[in-house]
Amino acid sequence: MIQLDQRQLGTTGIVVPPLGVGVWSWGDTGFWGYGSSHTRDDISLAYKACLDAGLNFFDTAEIYGGGESERILGECIRKEGRPVIIASKFAPLPTRLSRHALLNALDASLERLGVGAIDLYQIHWPYTFLNTNSLMDALAQAVRSGKVRAVGVSNYSAARMRQAHARLARHDIPLASNQVHYSLLHRKPEKNGVLDACRELNVTLIAYSPLEQGLLTGKYRVTNAQVIPMVGPRRFIPAFSAARRRKMEPLFEVMATVASARDKTIGQVALNWLIAKDACIVPIPGAKNLRQARENAGAIGWRLTDEEFTKISNATAL
Ligand SMILES: NC(=O)c1ccc[n+]([C@@H]2O[C@H](COP(=O)([O-])OP(=O)(O)OC[C@H]3O[C@@H](n4cnc5c(N)ncnc54)[C@H](OP(=O)(O)O)[C@@H]3O)[C@@H](O)[C@H]2O)c1
Repeated sequence: MIQLDQRQLGTTGIVVPPLGVGVWSWGDTGFWGYGSSHTRDDISLAYKACLDAGLNFFDTAEIYGGGESERILGECIRKEGRPVIIASKFAPLPTRLSRHALLNALDASLERLGVGAIDLYQIHWPYTFLNTNSLMDALAQAVRSGKVRAVGVSNYSAARMRQAHARLARHDIPLASNQVHYSLLHRKPEKNGVLDACRELNVTLIAYSPLEQGLLTGKYRVTNAQVIPMVGPRRFIPAFSAARRRKMEPLFEVMATVASARDKTIGQVALNWLIAKDACIVPIPGAKNLRQARENAGAIGWRLTDEEFTKISNATAL
């Protein structure tokens, strides 16, 4: 039976907490500065803290850190020895032209993770020479092989998601999830039909970058007395420019008021807002260390009131 604080991945019967953990930064040097901003020890502590808080749903991908993310996650799983739910992704690169490419990539992911099966195997993005039907047929084959328990897509539009759902249905396999960018600062899924399609088809919307890559923790606010340097190429992303961050101040003020009245942080409020938005949403914030993992875990176990939820919603532009 599903408990109040749990969510099901689509209609698969796989039950996850309302908050997952994204592990792109685990082993990724180029974007996230692994090795300088966080170390292998930081990751071990973060992993353990997640499990201690009941967060046992981890999202990785074959391309994160060139495979390092899967490898590190696998090491953590073996070291702690506690049951977890693993999501990973196939990268449909232009050089990958047949369904065998997916099955080979899956084997390589299983090897890096050191497990016999992946709970949720997703297509990382829709742009590829392989058409959606072929990819879904390959996913179905992966399920039949027993190496994958459930399948999902990522960055799919509502239309393409419907096509994927329909093709999988021919194999009697439900589409479990569509993983898309969704945060208080990026509410596109509410406008482009993806959230509606997830509700209608009983597909989980896995919300990536739910903290807008750190912005929604409030630590990069322009009004902060202490300036925290941004690791990696984020400083070149338009959302991180000083002008854009200045425009976010009214939202941060509302979030800070709600957070302090509840003894929560701005980041916890940002994650709770997504969880409260719809029962089909599971955000997967990244955490580089123990402190971040603990703070993010504090986004569950409570709920914004309707009034707080609306106040925050109204403070962001749709
Ligand atoms: N499917 C896709 O195409 C796709 C794309 C992007 C991401 N994803 C998935 O979504 C996951 C999460 O997205 P994301 O990593 O892009 O962004 P995010 O979760 O919005 O932000 C993560 C970053 O924010 C900072 N942070 C996190 N918790 C914090 C806390 N409590 N206090 C202060 N800072 C904190 C850390 O960076 P700093 O400490 O350096 O600020 C951390 O690396 C990824 O790990 C990945 O699994 C999927």
